Amino acid sequence: MDTSDQLPMLTPADIERPSPARIYDYWLGGSNNFAADREVAERAAAAMPTLKAAIWANRAFLRRAVKALVTEYGVTQFLDLGSGVPTVGNVHEIAQGADPSCRVLYVDIDPVAVAHGHSLLEGNAQASVIHADLRHPETVLEHPRTAELIDFSKPVAVLMIAVLHFIPDEEQPGQIVQAYREVLSPGSFLALSHAAPDLEHPTEQAGMIDDYQRSTRVRFIHRTPEQLRAWLGDFAVQPPGIVQVNQWRPEAENDQHILRTYGLLARKES
Ligand SMILES: C[S@@+](CC[C@H](N)C(=O)[O-])C[C@H]1O[C@@H](n2cnc3c(N)ncnc32)[C@H](O)[C@@H]1O
Repeated sequence: MDTSDQLPMLTPADIERPSPARIYDYWLGGSNNFAADREVAERAAAAMPTLKAAIWANRAFLRRAVKALVTEYGVTQFLDLGSGVPTVGNVHEIAQGADPSCRVLYVDIDPVAVAHGHSLLEGNAQASVIHADLRHPETVLEHPRTAELIDFSKPVAVLMIAVLHFIPDEEQPGQIVQAYREVLSPGSFLALSHAAPDLEHPTEQAGMIDDYQRSTRVRFIHRTPEQLRAWLGDFAVQPPGIVQVNQWRPEAENDQHILRTYGLLARKES
């Protein structure tokens, strides 16, 4: 695995092949995406009318979870796996806004996401980004930047927000999550969010995912809240449990829209 200092150059083929990071950036209203990304994004949004609302609600869940981790649970270290193209309300902005001593390490497999992360984080000694594949926990955990920023003898929040649905069962997502859980000390957290099956519109959802997978050549697997719970081992799920992201400690009025993306915060007790 290459490091963030040796990012691969993008080839025309990379630009023509839509990427999950850049498609997501487009859905969030960002400008770090290419025509091929936008075409897939538009087709998916047309097929699933609640998709964009789910993406925005997911991003808002991330912000509320990070804020709660700092202000309610006193966590000051964050390992954000599958962090995405930087956008409004990034983890370091929320965390350091609440407590300037917070340290954040971003990890992404997408070179565009990592390159933009580098420019955004220039001059921030307490936040960094590495180019790595979360499916290889040792690569992430043994990376020199990880050792510089994160002290695993103290509580750490590992964020896996809207990323594990890219890992099919045969790649053992449960074992991957376990590998990160095992290095954490008591008082640490996992924050997860994940797309769920749409039981009311299964045909539309299947068609959209088929197009997305063929275009990006990346797998996308919907999972139920019960399947997420199975990855948590003895971590204690914090209130309000595994719920739709828009219903996880909403700041304003409770939003009852059915968005089929679930989120949770779970704590390592001992
Ligand atoms: C849908 S975006 C989510 C971004 C952010 N976590 C959020 O929820 O706003 C998923 C991100 O995960 C990254 N990703 C997918 N598979 C990955 C892997 N195996 N290792 C690291 N990053 C990965 C993608 O490149 C993309 O940037």
